[in-house]
Amino acid sequence: MTRSTVPARRLRLPLGTVESAAAMEALGAGLADQLQPGDVLALSGDLGTGKTTLVRGLAARLGVEPEAVASPTFALVHLYQGDVFSILHADFYRIDAPGEIEAAGILEQLEDPELLSIVEWPGIACDLLPAHTIWLELSMDGLGRRVVQPPA
Ligand SMILES: Nc1ncnc2c1ncn2[C@@H]1O[C@H](COP(=O)(O)OP(=O)(O)O)[C@@H](O)[C@H]1O
Ligand SMILES: [Mg+2]
Repeated sequence: MTRSTVPARRLRLPLGTVESAAAMEALGAGLADQLQPGDVLALSGDLGTGKTTLVRGLAARLGVEPEAVASPTFALVHLYQGDVFSILHADFYRIDAPGEIEAAGILEQLEDPELLSIVEWPGIACDLLPAHTIWLELSMDGLGRRVVQPPA
């Protein structure tokens, strides 16, 4: 497999404190406007930090029913049909070794130029994800959450 060596883009939108779940969905919608098929978005952060909520807002902006969006903890991936392109939603929470991701064929899907891919719990795959992967870190911040794009 040929690995992309194109570096990740910096996002052009205000990150930082996100005070409610609704604001997290709105942030996701804003993110959707800066993403395109072929992009990979990695969302790291502990349980409950809003990763799936962000994906819900993002996918909804692209034409996906919000109710369809849930952590694919057991399925490993969900595929949502948007208005113009499909969104792959992966969750590596239950992955114990990087080889399991390769064995499941998920790396090929992440390289698919026709899919926008989003990965929850990407840490175990940090050496496998494409170089152009855009990383965001989510964390608890009082009653709200904090979202940052760490320096490349
Ligand atoms: N910015 C936020 N502020 C407050 N609560 C939030 C925020 N984002 C999400 N939540 C809430 O946190 C809970 C966990 O969100 P979820 O998206 O499932 O987290 P994760 O996928 O990271 O485990 C949900 O009840 C959700 O509504
Ligand atoms: Mg989740």
